[in-house]
Amino acid sequence: MAQLNILEFPDPRLRQRASPVERVTPRVTALIDDMLETMYAAPGVGLAASQVDVHKRIVVVDVSDSHDQPYALVNPTIEVLGGLQQREEGCLSVPGFFEQVERADRIRVLALDKLGNAQEFDADGLLSVCIQHECDHLEGRLFVDYLTALKRSHIRKKLVKRTRA
Ligand code: NI
Repeated sequence: MAQLNILEFPDPRLRQRASPVERVTPRVTALIDDMLETMYAAPGVGLAASQVDVHKRIVVVDVSDSHDQPYALVNPTIEVLGGLQQREEGCLSVPGFFEQVERADRIRVLALDKLGNAQEFDADGLLSVCIQHECDHLEGRLFVDYLTALKRSHIRKKLVKRTRA
């Protein structure tokens, strides 16, 4: 296993739309293991392949305190079941910034797991938010896109300055 480098906003590669995984090969499974290791080390509760510059529809999530309830979602799709929730979100690609974002509460998730088996489950609360946030990455969308243009440009300036320093 290996830790992967995480791209940071405003890196344009984060804006690329990910393409579907055609087959869950051992290479995909190994990538998922590396993504989990990278996420736990960061530490974070979710990571999309787009963030490690692999533009395939793969995300990993683990919102447990014990770091032993990982979800690996390959080609995930989300159906909104209802409700709304507002939570403070952060992102490993936008380090140090946390802002309130409103999202659906209850969702149904369909995806393949890391062995290529179909999985389907319902989620709410933090798990739901996290899955929606990671699936946004696959579309090239970041949580800062839900903020005002002023806030987003403030965050961009700070991160660019920090990278140059
Ligand atoms: Ni993120």
